[in-house]
Amino acid sequence: MSGALDVAAVRARFPALADPAHVALDNAATTHRPQAVIDTLVRFCIATNANVHRATHRRAREATEAYEGARRRVARFLGAERDEVVFTRNATDAINLAARSYVEPRVGPGDAIVVTALEHHSNLVPWQQVCRRTGARLEALPVDGRGCLEIPETWPTGARFLAATRVSNALGTVVDTGALVASAHAAGLAVLLDVTQAAGHLPLDEGSRQADFLALSAHKMYGPMGLGVLRGRREHLEAMEPVVFGGEMVDRVSDRQATWQVPPLRFEAGTPPVAEAVAFVPALDLIEELGAESIRAHELVLLERLLGGIASIEGLELVGPATAPERSGSVALSLADAHAASVVLDISGIAVRAGVHCAEPLHAALGLGPTLRASVAVYNTTADIDRLLDALPEAVAAGR
Ligand code: ALA
Repeated sequence: MSGALDVAAVRARFPALADPAHVALDNAATTHRPQAVIDTLVRFCIATNANVHRATHRRAREATEAYEGARRRVARFLGAERDEVVFTRNATDAINLAARSYVEPRVGPGDAIVVTALEHHSNLVPWQQVCRRTGARLEALPVDGRGCLEIPETWPTGARFLAATRVSNALGTVVDTGALVASAHAAGLAVLLDVTQAAGHLPLDEGSRQADFLALSAHKMYGPMGLGVLRGRREHLEAMEPVVFGGEMVDRVSDRQATWQVPPLRFEAGTPPVAEAVAFVPALDLIEELGAESIRAHELVLLERLLGGIASIEGLELVGPATAPERSGSVALSLADAHAASVVLDISGIAVRAGVHCAEPLHAALGLGPTLRASVAVYNTTADIDRLLDALPEAVAAGR
């Protein structure tokens, strides 16, 4: 028990945690799934398993109802309308959709797309490509030596669009997206927030409510892999042309041309991840049942214990902000050989990630090599943190 959460009861809902040898501290990469998510996936495959928006037989009707019900559930979770939720393959796919469909036709030479130095490659490379194709400029808001972002008072000349993360996957920095989005909007920029590392860990903030687009991945929120969400403002989605074409997204098709469905179906060409969307519902139910505030409070207890413990281990340097509220429960540690250290931890059953965490430019800006990253989730216990702390000295010695 930690904070207001009964962690033992939470853990009992996650079958992957029944293995006492497994210490799950790579949650920024993916979270485990509760039994309710697994059951929903299996039940859908057995009892429903039909395609959506097509046939009228019973299973097809049930599949369509369940899929559209999942869309309504996601919308409620995000404080959005049903038709503002586009299902995608993952957050990367969601960002690429916004980049190709919304931003690319609206920028050209003289315009700037603004990102932050904290971005995961998935919220950087798509914008590099838009700039390459359109002649727009890419500008990155810098971070200080702790990996914290200063909210700009003035924006780059020609700035039209901001793509920013709410939480850095590599450092755990929590960005004040409320202030950032307000500043960008005041300067006339449209904004996409990547809330992939935030949505299962922090309460939805005002910046996320106000942003023009949000991108997230279900599997980082206790849901299935293969499902992402782009939440776009209705007026933007209605103004966007599709970029992937085929079945399902069309209204009428002749031998030479076609017309499109209204959003969001216009952006969901082909068979969508139906079972995954339906099984995302119990994951969102779990987050709301436990409460985002309680989840954050629990993760902060774990964070403080971890930060306190690593302060006394020689050869390790914490990178990123020193403590909450500027950081999430993802902790990156700098040491001589992070990969060797992660191998030693793995032998002890402790799952962490070593590397540059799909954030090469951020590591370069901070002069960092590969780091060792431990990232917590709602089901972690102080015992998990202690097992990591106990194993770290040997791991550091291996990584010297
Ligand atoms: N984006 C995932 C991570 O940060 C893969 O580990």
